[in-house]
Amino acid sequence: MSTSPVAGAVMAWQNGQKRLLFLFEYTTVRYVSTQNKKLGLLYRIFQLTIMGYLIGWVFLKNKGYQVKDDTIESSVVTKVKGVAHVNTIDADLWGPEDYVFPNLGENFLSIITNFIETQNQTLGNCSEDPSIPYNTCSKNEECTAGEAVRAGNGIKTGICLETNNHTCEIYGWCPIEIRKDPDAATIVREAENFTLYIRNFIRFSQFNFSATNVPMENRRSYLKNCLYNKTVHPYCPIFRLGDIVSKSGHSFEEMALRGGSIGVLIEWSCDLDKYSDCRPNYSFVRLDNLSEAVGFNFRFARYFTDAAGRRWRTLYTVFGIHLGIMVFGSARKFSIIPTIINIASALTLMAAGSYFCDVMLLYMMKKKRSVHTFTQVESNERMTTNDAIPEGLKRKFSL
Ligand SMILES: *[C@@H]1O[C@H](CO)[C@@H](O)[C@H](O)[C@H]1NC(C)=O
Repeated sequence: MSTSPVAGAVMAWQNGQKRLLFLFEYTTVRYVSTQNKKLGLLYRIFQLTIMGYLIGWVFLKNKGYQVKDDTIESSVVTKVKGVAHVNTIDADLWGPEDYVFPNLGENFLSIITNFIETQNQTLGNCSEDPSIPYNTCSKNEECTAGEAVRAGNGIKTGICLETNNHTCEIYGWCPIEIRKDPDAATIVREAENFTLYIRNFIRFSQFNFSATNVPMENRRSYLKNCLYNKTVHPYCPIFRLGDIVSKSGHSFEEMALRGGSIGVLIEWSCDLDKYSDCRPNYSFVRLDNLSEAVGFNFRFARYFTDAAGRRWRTLYTVFGIHLGIMVFGSARKFSIIPTIINIASALTLMAAGSYFCDVMLLYMMKKKRSVHTFTQVESNERMTTNDAIPEGLKRKFSL
């Protein structure tokens, strides 16, 4: 018997179709409903826990339905105001032009709170500070003319001053400053009442959102009268220097004497789903108290020329409060993708819960042979003992 080529082709086509059918196959899970109270309770508790986790922790606590942008773009402008009585040779009153360094209104600034003044320095020859090392001599040859004194105040002239602790004579601004500790008597007391105005603009480019720390409503009159206070005026951008120091946990008196560094932290935590919820939070922390050598000081000079062309200067070693204004924070906004991902992961956990309950069910069934006494399996047929376990489950757990 021979097959015709047509019949052969038809058979081949039918075989091919059978092979392709698996692509369109869909297997369902067979469900078993049980009235076991313990198991049911366990499953409900598990479901409730997952729901609680999803709603309470993921969505309410961690805002899992939002995306976060923590690259904050920020600009800070500062302005210090206040005048103080001082007792210096040049002036008896200091304004911000005199005591703020640098005076560009930047986010790092120093406000002078104490000073040591060395008056009437002129360029000339004089003796060097004997406490400076590598500058002792016993004869002129040991002082190389033209050589600078390391960490000193001038250039060696080539003369050894035997009358002055055997130090090399220098050319520089003379007389040199006498090293001493800062004196509490020269503290600029009024500095405690100086005010610092901080203007901060921020932007979160991912959400194209901008904000500022200066309240917009009644701006002018508000700024004239307000002073930052954590409870009364938490959004006033004007700060009293004394408050900044005390909020950092130190006394103004102690800090004004030798100076110090304080970080003014502006934290933005913006929930862009709530329109008004993007306000700064200020905190103050002292940054220089890790070592014994606390304090902050630097030197500057003011120069004078008289009608005869004689030049002199006043040198100041100043102690001050160094402020660094640091801005950080993040913004959040609803987004469908994290929402779906979080819900999906909670659903996966729930599936794990039903898997666990399946295992428990099987375990109970195996242990107690009589199904009727504790569980009733509703299936097409009533089954007893081991037969109660449906084929699907048996395969699932390879019993
Ligand atoms: C600071 O200002 C208050 C109130 O204006 C004043 O009573 C106090 O004496 C001032 N403090 C100093 C150190 O000037």
